[in-house]
Amino acid sequence: MSGKFITFEGPEGCGKSTQIKLLAEKIGVQGIKVACTREPGGTATGEAIRNILQHDAAGEPLGERAELLLFAASRAQLMDQVVLPILGRGEWVLCDRFIDSTMAYQGFARGMDIAMLDYINDVAINSRKPDLTLLLDLDVEKGFHRLKERYSGGNGTHDRFERESHDFHQRVRDGYHQLAQREPERFRIIDADQAIDEVASNVWDVVKEAVL
Ligand SMILES: Nc1ncnc2c1ncn2[C@@H]1O[C@H](COP(=O)(O)OP(=O)(O)OP(=O)(O)O)[C@@H](O)[C@H]1O
Ligand SMILES: [Mg+2]
Repeated sequence: MSGKFITFEGPEGCGKSTQIKLLAEKIGVQGIKVACTREPGGTATGEAIRNILQHDAAGEPLGERAELLLFAASRAQLMDQVVLPILGRGEWVLCDRFIDSTMAYQGFARGMDIAMLDYINDVAINSRKPDLTLLLDLDVEKGFHRLKERYSGGNGTHDRFERESHDFHQRVRDGYHQLAQREPERFRIIDADQAIDEVASNVWDVVKEAVL
């Protein structure tokens, strides 16, 4: 039997990376084998693509279509090399961002055609959608405030998306809500404006109800 595939989505700084770790621990305690991965990245090819996407590492501005297809290439490689083999062994996969990030960022925020993005996503994932998608919903400014604290220790530099405008990130957040409305059976919205443990407990309740 296939394992479960759970993705985490939401605006910058909403707590995806924090919550994915906490959920993996809880699933592990149940005796279920679980792998965590992230997008873009998760494979050697994907991490090389991530470097180009996040920091203009190729040394020139990245066009919109090139950006889209690099995300799709990273996703296709992650599916074939990591996600599908693990699910095939009956183990679980948790992924930090996935197809819905393309829809929210390239679609709702950049304005690219939604039907075209759906098609490209479908090619990239070989039609295997997540079983459950947790949307960690948080006010845009609050998310950036959290990141400011993360960077204040000298940890890393702002990536290309973090340098986009407030309006851009508001469209991302609103876009996520439209995506959740479009596929209510796959999505669950979690209020991320709570203490880390509170959010983690809500995430766990949803996972138990939806897929465990
Ligand atoms: N519920 C919370 N309350 C307060 N701070 C939080 C909460 N969750 C996470 N943080 C802190 O906010 C920062 C961003 O969290 P995290 O890196 O998990 O978010 P993210 O969604 O993965 O961000 P990014 O979009 O940059 O990948 C971290 O410093 C983290 O410790
Ligand atoms: Mg993160």
